Amino acid sequence: MQKEILFATNNPHKLEEIRAIAGRHFRVLSLGDKNFKGDIPETSATIAGNALQKARYIHAILGSDCFADDTGLEVEALGGAPGVYSARYAGENATYHDNVVKLLTALEGISNRRACFKTVIALILKEQEYLFEGQVCGQITTRLSGTGGFGYDPVFRPDGFPETFAEMSAEQKNSISHRALATSALTDFLLRQV
Ligand code: IMP
Repeated sequence: MQKEILFATNNPHKLEEIRAIAGRHFRVLSLGDKNFKGDIPETSATIAGNALQKARYIHAILGSDCFADDTGLEVEALGGAPGVYSARYAGENATYHDNVVKLLTALEGISNRRACFKTVIALILKEQEYLFEGQVCGQITTRLSGTGGFGYDPVFRPDGFPETFAEMSAEQKNSISHRALATSALTDFLLRQV
């Protein structure tokens, strides 16, 4: 029987991506599968801290082994911003589009468009905590292109590719993304457990 692991997220895009990447080896359960509907706090000042906070929160409430991810977009010319504040860059209730517009505005007239997506996955397994990381670097484009993906995907062009994440197929993004790298490290680890 396929092993099960709970993904502590309320983000349907992330769930779909992680299922596409890890689903070959594991049945990735959602919080919906556990009838959990509440918000998950993420108030740490670091990406790893937020990933751990989310995993610990769900572990404390549901008592199950689980993993959570946190991602930030670090833009060189902005001193690493929005980083851990990527979801709230344009304000507490900002939409993905609001955040993208704020980013393009902040970079107007700036030629250094270097940026990296960083994902940290925190796993709680048998009361032990583990961290897995993935990073992909590239350029912030000057305008939005593509309709796939989510978040900053329409303005992020990974190194070595002519298109943004949002112009790629889900399969292509899921084979090279920050989340794919962190998820592969997670699945490699889980597959080594007995
Ligand atoms: P979170 O805190 O891990 O939910 O992610 C913070 C923000 O980063 C999200 O609200 C998105 O705007 C952005 N983000 C996370 N993952 C991705 C991705 O794979 N592509 C584009 N943006 C992302």
